[in-house]
Amino acid sequence: MRITIADVQNMKRAGEKIAMLTAYDVASAMIAERAGVPMILVGDSLGMVMLGHDTTLPVTLNDMIRHAGAVMRAGGRALVVADLPFLTYATIEDAVPAVRRLMQEAGVHAVKLEGGQTIVPIVKKLVEMGVPVMGHLGLTPQSQHQLGLRVQAKRAAEARQLLEDALALQAAGAFAIVLEVVPAPLGKAVSERLNIPVIGIGAGVGCDGQVQVWHDVLGLFDSKTPRHAKRYAEIGLAMETAVRSYVDEVRSGMFPTDAQSARMDEAELATALAAVDVAGKAE
Ligand code: KIV
Repeated sequence: MRITIADVQNMKRAGEKIAMLTAYDVASAMIAERAGVPMILVGDSLGMVMLGHDTTLPVTLNDMIRHAGAVMRAGGRALVVADLPFLTYATIEDAVPAVRRLMQEAGVHAVKLEGGQTIVPIVKKLVEMGVPVMGHLGLTPQSQHQLGLRVQAKRAAEARQLLEDALALQAAGAFAIVLEVVPAPLGKAVSERLNIPVIGIGAGVGCDGQVQVWHDVLGLFDSKTPRHAKRYAEIGLAMETAVRSYVDEVRSGMFPTDAQSARMDEAELATALAAVDVAGKAE
């Protein structure tokens, strides 16, 4: 059975940590499902890791729909959340058609919006219209040209503001919040004060769950691994080794073997070749 927002909220109540992971295509979503990931995020981080941009800002709604649709076609049980791209939810008039497309065309179960008090009225309205909304506070990459890519809310006033934002999002009906790159004690304090799950990324072990980017945990890039990510495998290296073997075998004639080749009855082949030869001579 599909995991619902009530299920993830019950996980928090039961003290069960929530392991969320990004996925951007059908193959990765199927692997995440098989590994038991309860919540998949189709993050606008796809702008960097799938499309080669430097930031999430160029990601369009069509990019999100294409990738989210692929993730949904993996089937499975996970609750799938998709990011609303930069400036697609500045007003409720913008947000509604964007959410409609993500939920109707791609089929995702919930959407994620970055920001605090300023987006609270939009979150409230979406929730009233039946949309499950996840908030995102702390380092919000869509505002990176204002915030910088550094640890957020290190000072008391900023920490208090962040806590107020989190409570306001909860009051507006957000079902969970991503908390990105804030001091670990603050991650723990926010998680303890909220009834809804707080999913951290670079916010310490005291959060109710963690979210990581697919490419970071699997070691798909040589560089670009942020400090808060742990590489659980070196899949990029394993892929390179496999591709190198393929190239070598094609060059040396070791691939394909009979096993990868279609067969034909020898007598049929002799007849076909003879017929071609006769036709060739007649021309
Ligand atoms: O876009 C994304 O992948 C995200 C996570 C880093 C939380 O927002």
